[in-house]
Amino acid sequence: MSNWSEGYVVHTEYIYSYCQEFNPMRLRLPFLKTGYRMPEPRVACELGFGQGVSTAIHTAAAPLDWWATDFNPSHVAHGQELIASFQGGAHLFDQSFDEFCHRNDLPEFDFIGLHGVWSWVSDDNHRTIVDFVRRKLKVGGVLYISYNTQPGWAARIPLRHIIDEHFKRLTRSGTNLLDRIDDAFAFAIRLLEQNPAYMVANPRVAEQFHWIRTANRHYLAHELFNQAWRSYSFSEISDWLSAAKVTFVGSANPLDHVAFPHLNEGQRAFLDAIPDPTYRETVRDFMINQQFRQDYWVKGPQRLDQPARNTRLRDQRVVLMIPRAQISLKIQGAQGETPLDPELYNPLLDLLADHQPLSIGELERKLTSRGVTLDRLLECLLVLNANSGISLIQEEPLIQQAKPRCAILNRHLLEQARHSDRINHLASPVTGGGVRVPRLEQLFLLAASQGVDTPREWADQASQWLDVPAEGPSAQDRDEPAEAQKTERFERAQRFVDTLTILRSLGIG
Ligand SMILES: C[S@@+](CC[C@H](N)C(=O)[O-])C[C@H]1O[C@@H](n2cnc3c(N)ncnc32)[C@H](O)[C@@H]1O
Repeated sequence: MSNWSEGYVVHTEYIYSYCQEFNPMRLRLPFLKTGYRMPEPRVACELGFGQGVSTAIHTAAAPLDWWATDFNPSHVAHGQELIASFQGGAHLFDQSFDEFCHRNDLPEFDFIGLHGVWSWVSDDNHRTIVDFVRRKLKVGGVLYISYNTQPGWAARIPLRHIIDEHFKRLTRSGTNLLDRIDDAFAFAIRLLEQNPAYMVANPRVAEQFHWIRTANRHYLAHELFNQAWRSYSFSEISDWLSAAKVTFVGSANPLDHVAFPHLNEGQRAFLDAIPDPTYRETVRDFMINQQFRQDYWVKGPQRLDQPARNTRLRDQRVVLMIPRAQISLKIQGAQGETPLDPELYNPLLDLLADHQPLSIGELERKLTSRGVTLDRLLECLLVLNANSGISLIQEEPLIQQAKPRCAILNRHLLEQARHSDRINHLASPVTGGGVRVPRLEQLFLLAASQGVDTPREWADQASQWLDVPAEGPSAQDRDEPAEAQKTERFERAQRFVDTLTILRSLGIG
């Protein structure tokens, strides 16, 4: 084991994921819902930034000065390459948390974020992080932290232990880390075929195991096989963070701010009767079987008075992110699939259907005759924001500043898509963050930017970039999948006509 890795998986790199919770615009609706004043983050820090996709996108798309560390030098090299592509000014280091947090040249931060880190590092690192937040988060600054949560993970812990022990103890010599993971899963599959009593007593674990087993192995290496691995209750995290002098202000998941998808009326009343907020949040996790928490905490939170909060809400502009016809009037929560009120959502979605920005105040005025109040509208926008239906828009001068940086970064990402499917996000100067665009659609966009302008041509051009020279099976064997693939690419190119309009309204392409 490498001695700098502290038992963390470093022999395989992490996936190229994007974390939208670091976009300052993403903070606004949860803060406005809870009624707390939200600072405008300008100087930000990320601990454990992975491949640096979020850092690069937010450096390009938002007015943020990022300082970030990840001790895996391969991750840092990738992040630096992305940021250099548009000459961004982010400061990336390959230092451990201990080294980075004790640097004496760091500024104070408006925002400190760690995503996918806390559950996978040691208590020594927890102490370092808490001390860093206490010293380096400005008064009024925001901490974003995510972690695996107890109730949702509890039943899976023994099976994860079995898999992890196999990984550690029954390693074939000379096998690489991904093969060891495959061996451990193959063993678990054979174990489950024996119908162990544990699985009979906990039938949902098999379902969850199927999902885990089919996930990306690079992701799994980091998710399941670190030396430190623990799920936490909310009150444990609250105890840890009290030394950093931060207060919980609310979940970073917009859907957690709306009760009906998660809780029935009896459950709501039960939780409302709990006087202690930390205990209430802990019980709520039990009530909804929470498995992963993502939260915002603030050092010295201040309440906004109601008129000031309403003015901010009304001034905020939003945009519809997916074609109107593709928005489902259902939402998935702890209550299962819950329908959304068509009387409420259809007129709202119709107003946003042309993908032009509208302020929440304008939406309120246009919907008042239907009896829609500002608070009801906010609830709808939280729901739509949670399923990526809408995004908040940053102020016009910030959009203009971000445009050239995003254009260069996006060009770099689109060129990369010709050879790789690693990064599935592009940067929007309008939303200040990343927008999911899978590889094939990135290639359509690249083709469109080169003057190719019909779906048939986009699909053909993308195929030229994607198709590997013929080798292996006979031409006859290849014909059928190639035809099916061509049809699928053409159908996706036809759907891309609408997506292209949206991407352009988001300042992409
Ligand atoms: C699960 S990944 C999450 C990456 C990123 N935040 C994301 O969500 O895409 C955790 C990251 O933390 C880094 N890391 C773990 N322990 C660390 C430590 N002690 N010091 C610095 N980086 C560390 C790992 O290299 C890894 O890239």
